[in-house]
Amino acid sequence: MSSINYSEKIPNNVNLGEDRTLQRALEQWQPNFINWWDDVGPVGSTDSEVYLRTAVSVDPQGWASFGHVKMRDYRWGIFLNPGSADREIHFGDHKGEKAWDSVPGEHRANLRRIIVTQGDTEPASVEQQRHLGLTAPSMYDLRNLFQINVEEGRHLWAMVYLLHKHFGRDGREEAEALLERRSGDANNPRILGAFNEATPDWLSFFMFTYFTDRDGKFQLCALAESAFDPLARTTKFMLTEEAHHMFVGESGISRVIQRTAQVMNELKTDDVGRLRAAGVIDLPTIQRYINFHYSVTIDLFGADESSNAAIFYSSGLKGRYEEGKRVDDHTLKGQTYKVLEVRDGHLVEKDVPMLNALNEVLRDDYIKDSVAGVERWNKVLAKALIPVRLAVPHKAFHRNIGALSGVKVSPDGRVLGEVEWAANVDAWLPSREDRAYVASLMGRVVEPGKFANWIAPPVMGINRQPVDYDYVRFG
Ligand SMILES: [Fe+2]
Ligand SMILES: [Fe+2]
Repeated sequence: MSSINYSEKIPNNVNLGEDRTLQRALEQWQPNFINWWDDVGPVGSTDSEVYLRTAVSVDPQGWASFGHVKMRDYRWGIFLNPGSADREIHFGDHKGEKAWDSVPGEHRANLRRIIVTQGDTEPASVEQQRHLGLTAPSMYDLRNLFQINVEEGRHLWAMVYLLHKHFGRDGREEAEALLERRSGDANNPRILGAFNEATPDWLSFFMFTYFTDRDGKFQLCALAESAFDPLARTTKFMLTEEAHHMFVGESGISRVIQRTAQVMNELKTDDVGRLRAAGVIDLPTIQRYINFHYSVTIDLFGADESSNAAIFYSSGLKGRYEEGKRVDDHTLKGQTYKVLEVRDGHLVEKDVPMLNALNEVLRDDYIKDSVAGVERWNKVLAKALIPVRLAVPHKAFHRNIGALSGVKVSPDGRVLGEVEWAANVDAWLPSREDRAYVASLMGRVVEPGKFANWIAPPVMGINRQPVDYDYVRFG
């Protein structure tokens, strides 16, 4: 297993030292990356030493090292999973041909677009989360936030490496542009909608890492099937890090629910006013946050019918989730898939060519995966003998892309008129009051082992350290 030479400026397992031109290009980009980090990276992190994991190899048995490091000195490295010389393309029109080590001219524009779109989400989330450190509910949570931030930074490096290595001058220009767009900026926003939404509080952060980082997982899984081998190998390694991000979200929400359930039982009430007076987040508010983050995130998969999706698949650029485990012909010609449309005021299914519906296929795989975690949250409620159950809303609820955009649909899937929608929207999506209430709970708790009132402590610490370990040493 290749390991990392830490004496090099940019840790890597891609023999960077043997490609002087590439090394120089990346060394020129690096200070711009640091400027971006200083400019819009995590507020108040510069002088702290944080107990972070750093990728040091791609060995599944021990790819990370843990230790206190200054965030700014984090070694953002470039790692590809090992390749195999005889890897074959296993879907689309090129099925059975040898996988590509370099970019075929005919697919260059599409591949660049795919890599730039993925790359753009990574710095975007760092920007979205940059203020959260000021209101961390514990030192443990602060450390997890910072861990995610540095790894999203590394994911940006991973995409920039591909752009510099394989796309020449326009790749270098795209790499610069990735540092110039800003989440939520009116003039130069990030590419995808959900990455321009604010992440103003920790409930939003946990929802984001549960739902939106999981979109990342599914996109990366689809790219890990790519015929373009460097992209497949890069994204496979990114997935290793992504698992922790989703863990932070799932366990974070679970701890919020656990704390709320505890207070509901202590006070023997489900009255929202009394629970808010006790300083915990009521279950209806949690449900509304789920509705918001779920619907915004499933939009990220794109239009339900898309000729681009068909082209990306047929040309081998982007596969399906777990393409290799599926038992069909992996070309999908002549097959159909069901998508939703509104007819006579009702949602109905219609069959469309499967190749054109691959965004919807990936969205449905995502939905199955995200529902599983919601069921685990419900177990927390069941265990506390609270009869309420949380759920994701209907797929057509609050959509802004594809055939369902603009249609008003209730969380249980009824098509509504504007009046009924307007009368109920505050019961279905976080209202201004909800957001103000959640914001009012956000205070900074960073003494080791102490937790904000609205969240339960985790079951265990990071890397077998105790929960009250000094995960962040403030400078
Ligand atoms: Fe990422
Ligand atoms: Fe992530």
